[in-house]
Amino acid sequence: MDNHFDTIHTPADRVDGKDKVTGRAKYAAEHVLPGMTYAMIVSSTIAKGRIKALDTKAASSAPGVLAVISHLNSENPPGFSPVDKTKNPKGQEWQGLKIFYSDNIFSNGQPIAIVVADTFERARYAATLVKAQYEKEIHQTDFIKNLPKAAAPKTSWSPSEYKRGEADAYKKASAWIEQEYIVPTETHNPMEMHAVVAHWENDEKLTVYTKTQGVKDTQGELMQLYNLPEENVKVIAEFVGGGFGSALRTWPHEVAAIIAAKKLKRPVKLMLTREQMFTMVGYRPFAWQKIGIGATTDGKLVGITHHAVGQTSSYENFSEGIVNVSKFLYDCPNVNTSYKLLPLDVNTPIWMRGPGEATGTFALESALDELAYNLNMDPLELRKRNYAHKDPEKNLPWSSKYLDECYEIGAQKIGWNARPEIPRTMMEDGMYVGYGMGTGVFFALRWSAAARGRLREDGVLVLQSAVSDMGPGTATAMVTIASQNLGIPPENIIFELGNSSLPPGPTQGGSATTSSLGSAVYEVCEDLKSKLIELAVKQSEAFHTTTQHTVKAADLVYENGKVMLAVDKTKSMDYKDLLRNGAIKELESTKESGGGPELKKYSMYSFSVHFTKLHVHPLTGQVRIKQIVTVGDAGKIINEKAARSQMIGGVVGGIGMALTEEAIIDHRFGRYINNNFADYHVPVNADVPFIDAHFVNKPDPVINPMGAKGMGEIALIGYAASVANAVFNATGVRVRRLPINCDKLI
Ligand code: MOS
Repeated sequence: MDNHFDTIHTPADRVDGKDKVTGRAKYAAEHVLPGMTYAMIVSSTIAKGRIKALDTKAASSAPGVLAVISHLNSENPPGFSPVDKTKNPKGQEWQGLKIFYSDNIFSNGQPIAIVVADTFERARYAATLVKAQYEKEIHQTDFIKNLPKAAAPKTSWSPSEYKRGEADAYKKASAWIEQEYIVPTETHNPMEMHAVVAHWENDEKLTVYTKTQGVKDTQGELMQLYNLPEENVKVIAEFVGGGFGSALRTWPHEVAAIIAAKKLKRPVKLMLTREQMFTMVGYRPFAWQKIGIGATTDGKLVGITHHAVGQTSSYENFSEGIVNVSKFLYDCPNVNTSYKLLPLDVNTPIWMRGPGEATGTFALESALDELAYNLNMDPLELRKRNYAHKDPEKNLPWSSKYLDECYEIGAQKIGWNARPEIPRTMMEDGMYVGYGMGTGVFFALRWSAAARGRLREDGVLVLQSAVSDMGPGTATAMVTIASQNLGIPPENIIFELGNSSLPPGPTQGGSATTSSLGSAVYEVCEDLKSKLIELAVKQSEAFHTTTQHTVKAADLVYENGKVMLAVDKTKSMDYKDLLRNGAIKELESTKESGGGPELKKYSMYSFSVHFTKLHVHPLTGQVRIKQIVTVGDAGKIINEKAARSQMIGGVVGGIGMALTEEAIIDHRFGRYINNNFADYHVPVNADVPFIDAHFVNKPDPVINPMGAKGMGEIALIGYAASVANAVFNATGVRVRRLPINCDKLI
């Protein structure tokens, strides 16, 4: 394979960094259109029942108010109606909550009205005047209390029961444990609140500026909602201030703004409050797990049994791969798993960074650690003894797997040798010291994606794709790939994104953007190079030698921005000169690229390991993380600086998951009680030590031409167990319910 990835053309800094820090970058809520109006959502204060009466009079007559829309007067989008499959076989009824569709209440915090005014302040004030009376029904929001009601998911795509070898074989092993684990509800809480600006032209063309991880997905959903052709729906998300999965679908508040804009025939801007972010844009679902795991006395795994139940809403089945990891992460002959859903009177969850695998590895990697203590064995050694050299679930070779190298790098950098073998035996500065580790793994994916390149006469390459970037630095990565491929400096490359009118890019999710879109960009560059060579053939005199007076494409090569004669590289011509001499204003190439066939031959995953050294205060149970080493096998690293930043960000999310984050419902009301940043604790600088991020940085030979695997998810997956295991090493207390706050340690 031709690899161009070791040249010097790596932009260290983000290409959009200056725009972001100077405020030039415009996020959804910052767009201002002529005639703009401002909206505020009113939400339900009960968790289940119906709206008996809604008094909107005071709100409607408040100063500046233009409309109050609710189930009483909303014009339903056509997509809310059941589809007549005889007329439209591909048609799909709207998935998810149909806003203002009926008087039914399915969750506390459900949007029940939208108030639109001429200013934001007036909308916010008028929203407080909307009064609802309810007919309450008994709600169920307590996951633990309702656990026995869990049932197998009804949807076909949900993971069903799995068995390899013998079920519950762990019980026959000489050493085994059986434990339950809880991961509570976590909310994504990106810095930027979800916001939307919706605008209709002549009642038939819809433009939406919104926070979305997939401009094409959102466009498709809105086309379906209003039966509109592609050219009539434009979705713009040039900058996204964090998402972590919360912007992976079109939410009710977006539809509310669109309904309001249609009614008013004016643009409507709506931004959620931080409180509303807890009930309107999904969350990591509450989950219960039980793991049974057993090994021989020398640490060879005999069996793993992994059961999980995840929370969903009463109106949708949301499922995730919590038990997946147990099927293939270790070489174990007997594995059985099950997965069930528990519908409660809550809003629907959504994938949150590392989705089910983050939840699943907390249990599996904690259980392995516990088993290691039972065996009197180093937990890292136990993992090495059960290293899966091929995928035991699919019975396929890995496309690449350097997890063993991750282990070596991580153990060396953290100083694993210093780890006390017996808990509660090491102290520093009056604190117990503990070391822990946890493994992460996530599918390495490659989806179809299209990109367009325009190589202009002035030497500038403009790349375009309808992708959005929630923060990892997609434009930077794409510029890097193009720069390295074409051998032209990054300053000469512009990447345009965040607009559904551009060639269809992938949704930013599942750690697959660089792999998917990068491949399309790579192919565009390859195509541009052959077009430049064709151009050179037309200007062949420049390449003539004393002996050779004809030049064919096969005689020429492209290297570092120049086309040259293969046999005599002094005969060369810069790409800009080729364009100028040929009087070509622009060379264009659009490529759609995708993976697929390799999945039949290889099992493709990214891997990581996280090592943590921490202190626990003997009296207060306060945990202070002292040192973190995180190592990723994410294939070839495209941009080291952005990659390190992404790994660090994921680990910070993992610190939150391990130590502080829990969205708590008061079950008397079915309402979140810590729905703000004062009470819902995300890690702050003081919680985060220096995070030492490393990469194996070896290309995957299969996944795509760059050899790059995904990284976003493995940065977080496995981290919580690393902390739980370190806490046990420090204190001898095994915490199996996250977050590990002080009350669980004293
Ligand atoms: Mo990610 S949870 O696929 O945004």
